[in-house]
Amino acid sequence: MFNSELTQKLTKLKTPFYFYDLDLLDKTILSLKESLEPNYSIYYAIKANNNSKIIKLIKDHDLGIDAVSGEEINKSLNNSIKPNKIVFAGVGKTKDEIIFAIKKKIYLINCESFDEISLIDKISHELNVRTKIAIRLNPNIDSRSHKYIKTGMFDSKFGIQIGHLAQILEKIKKLKHIDLKGYHFHLGSQIDDLGVFSKLCNVSNEINTYLKNKNFNITDINLGGGLGINYEQPDLNLIPDFKSYFQIFKKNLIYFDNQKIHFELGRSIVGQSGSLFSSILYLKKSFNKHFIIIDAGMTELIRPALYNAQHHIENLSSNHKEIKYDIVGPLCESSDTFAKDYYLNKSKIGDLIVIRSSGAYGEVMSSNYNLRKKVKAYYSNELF
Ligand code: LLP
Repeated sequence: MFNSELTQKLTKLKTPFYFYDLDLLDKTILSLKESLEPNYSIYYAIKANNNSKIIKLIKDHDLGIDAVSGEEINKSLNNSIKPNKIVFAGVGKTKDEIIFAIKKKIYLINCESFDEISLIDKISHELNVRTKIAIRLNPNIDSRSHKYIKTGMFDSKFGIQIGHLAQILEKIKKLKHIDLKGYHFHLGSQIDDLGVFSKLCNVSNEINTYLKNKNFNITDINLGGGLGINYEQPDLNLIPDFKSYFQIFKKNLIYFDNQKIHFELGRSIVGQSGSLFSSILYLKKSFNKHFIIIDAGMTELIRPALYNAQHHIENLSSNHKEIKYDIVGPLCESSDTFAKDYYLNKSKIGDLIVIRSSGAYGEVMSSNYNLRKKVKAYYSNELF
């Protein structure tokens, strides 16, 4: 991914930093759009990465935004995303966020409990409007990804149990200031087993028929996000296989002509376009291990520490034979480790290290623990 000319330019920059390949992002979005069926719409899960330059590409390609906070809505609007292209999800929306979303006339609010629905009804009454909502249901399907990023199992904090749907619909019928226009699922993230999505279609088909029989005019079916990316060998799948993913829905999903199918992809859109760059500060041998201590840590990319995530790592400054290292960050936490027993070209102080597939849930999850400063981001179209 990084030819010698680009590597030379990147070597001159102060590490650590994020680098985004906007050409790759553009190609990824084009490939995504080419794979869509006419009724399908993409709402980019902005939680994955909210960089303004990335939002601009999302907007230029006319995708929508899936926001999970008032500030994500605000940032989308400030970056010229139209309100009717924004949906708002989240298990714990505050009253102020709901008021903001309603006043800004966003497209749809995805609700996760009856308490939330009745608060939206009350606020809408006070503001003298009717608000379009969707109801997030918990399909009890195992996404077969890391336990921290599974969201659709019966014991998950997200969504409403399908078993409670009938009762909630009865209550909704009594509310005067909301319109139930959609239903929503999200199984989890980094899903590799596409079979999981065909199970989701079966649940969706049942719910769709059920709601129709109950005389609800459902116009929006939101199937969430979750498509995984290749972390081990990113160059083999720089652009995820959107065709196979959508094929599952094309084959299995039943919907009516007036219905729009939402997908809220985050990681699969932006994941491979971002990389974290870092330099080697020190090397040391300890017991039977060779440690490489780099200047990026869990403050810049928390995924390895939090989910044991394995990102592909390369030494761009060395052509020497590989040896086995533990690659660790500078923070005072043992979990501040990017990889254990990892084969990397024989390294020395100052070498440039790249941690791949960091475009999603990388920079957005950074923190200033140990009072570390937020690192800079560079973009492919600005380095030339
Ligand atoms: N829709 C909802 C309701 C979500 O909660 C999420 C992600 C998405 C869509 C987008 O999912 P994606 O297509 O990106 O998988 N920080 C974790 C991932 C957390 C995902 C949270 N929800 C990680 O680094 O793996």
